[in-house]
Amino acid sequence: DHSFTSHVASQFSAYEKDRNLQSGSALYTTSNGVPMPHPYETQRVGENGPLLLQDFHLIDLLSHFDRERIPERVVHAKGGGAHGVFECTHPIPELTAASLFSARGKKCPVTVRFSTVGGEAGSHDLARDPRGFAVKFRTDDGNWDMVANNTPVFFLRDPAKFPHFIHTQKRDPSTHLSATDDSTMFWDYLCNNPESVHQVMILLGDRGIPDGWRFMHGYSVHTLKLVNSKDEWVYCQLHMKSMQGAKFITQEESAKLSPDYSQKDLYQAIARGDFPKWSVEVQTMTPKQAEDVWEKQRINVFDLTHVWPQGQFPRRKVGEFILNENAVNYFAEIEQAAFNPAHMPPGIEPSADPVLQSRLFSYPDTHRHRIGANYQQLPVNAPKTSFAPANFQRDGSMAFFNQGSRSAYLSSIDPIRFRARTVDLHKTHGHFTGEAITFLSEIRPEDFNGPRALWQKVWDEPARQRFISNTAGNMSRCREKEFIRRQISIFREVDPDIATRLEKATGIQGYEGIAGLGFNGTHNGMASDARLRHAN
Ligand code: HEM
Repeated sequence: DHSFTSHVASQFSAYEKDRNLQSGSALYTTSNGVPMPHPYETQRVGENGPLLLQDFHLIDLLSHFDRERIPERVVHAKGGGAHGVFECTHPIPELTAASLFSARGKKCPVTVRFSTVGGEAGSHDLARDPRGFAVKFRTDDGNWDMVANNTPVFFLRDPAKFPHFIHTQKRDPSTHLSATDDSTMFWDYLCNNPESVHQVMILLGDRGIPDGWRFMHGYSVHTLKLVNSKDEWVYCQLHMKSMQGAKFITQEESAKLSPDYSQKDLYQAIARGDFPKWSVEVQTMTPKQAEDVWEKQRINVFDLTHVWPQGQFPRRKVGEFILNENAVNYFAEIEQAAFNPAHMPPGIEPSADPVLQSRLFSYPDTHRHRIGANYQQLPVNAPKTSFAPANFQRDGSMAFFNQGSRSAYLSSIDPIRFRARTVDLHKTHGHFTGEAITFLSEIRPEDFNGPRALWQKVWDEPARQRFISNTAGNMSRCREKEFIRRQISIFREVDPDIATRLEKATGIQGYEGIAGLGFNGTHNGMASDARLRHAN
């Protein structure tokens, strides 16, 4: 049985009891278990007098209430999810030693959390925003968290830009207004960091508002590495394809729907037994091919603003997962879930993508802050391994996996077991370096190839018109005309047609192109004047 329930049952009988609590058999008590006749019996002096400090029941109630909130996620605060099961359909032992992909029919429990990115915990599910798509695979070799998005590319390739970009999505420090009212910060960032244009076009095009969570795909976005038991490795991009198909909502429709649209849709589908499924697929590339695509096509596999051409690197199915169990308790099973891109079992490794490398640090760091030192011990985060896990991480706030009397140091008297190396890190750590470092903060002609293909080949005429209307609508909330002039010049590099149409829609004339521009965030590798190239 690979359900979340069985996972909880085997790992944490206490949580299983909590999950199955029934009111009928429960007796009302204070937190220390003393039965109370009624919750509304506050002690006061006489009929109209002040309250008594000895009224532990009231103080117990209020002081716990005062501490009910944990910090919301700094990004991806609004979300929801469910539990389910992954099953391997097409094993790939020749590519990876990861046990979940080792045999047909091999299963493991999963927990998935979907989210929007910029909004606060109570914000609208149908915001025009990328969607988070985080999957915790509880493999028998430990947890693998695939912390993915619903779009194949990202706004940036330099991790130092992430807090800046995110702050443009949040409230203004002074007016406390969000981008719903004022998009000035947003366009200021984008017109100074043109490598964002590919993601911006996806965001403002038809794929910007997915129809709930069941009808969207997931992408690793980053390049990962798959390593087999002979220490041979390939680069990999992971896709999670909705088996329901992909569906999107227009700007107009979204305004009419509930702020909790996606949450309701997923919960109700699972409750009525209409379980959504995703096909898990990989694209792979050898290190030699990675050098070639850089040399010939100027695609750097460590640059997440570009995609791997699917004709050249076809997708290959490895398995699928179904979501068939709603959370019984949202806080315990979804809010406290902690997904970390650094959680990888043997056979799956990070690539040198600088944004991925930074995420490996950032997630567990925020988890210790958001949930606490022992967050990995919570039932939703705990691994479900084929062996009894042991380590030397002890004590701390709220520890409840205390490892009994086992020694807290590497003891020779009472040794624990070690498993032989699955893959040899010495052999797998060679990698193609390309020009990733200089590439980080420089805009080049090839950066416009992906968005140009969207405009010219992927979109039909109505889709182009919707993009222009969405973009002009958003630009109308920007207070600085100069940002729009610059942004139009960036779109002109994608296709002059976009610029002309936006000029008409906004009434603002953009610059000719980016050759004459300096950016505060990006070196202009296309500048006509060498001084502008490093204007920042
Ligand atoms: C959530 C940081 C880029 C996908 C988060 C959180 C942080 C963060 C701090 C909150 C985690 C929590 O409280 O549990 C960063 C940084 C990035 C970055 C520093 C770049 C430097 C990305 C990218 C993707 C992504 C490129 C997609 C490939 C997600 C998802 C969540 C998330 C799906 C929500 C996970 C959940 O549902 O709990 N990110 N992020 N992030 N991030 Fe990122």
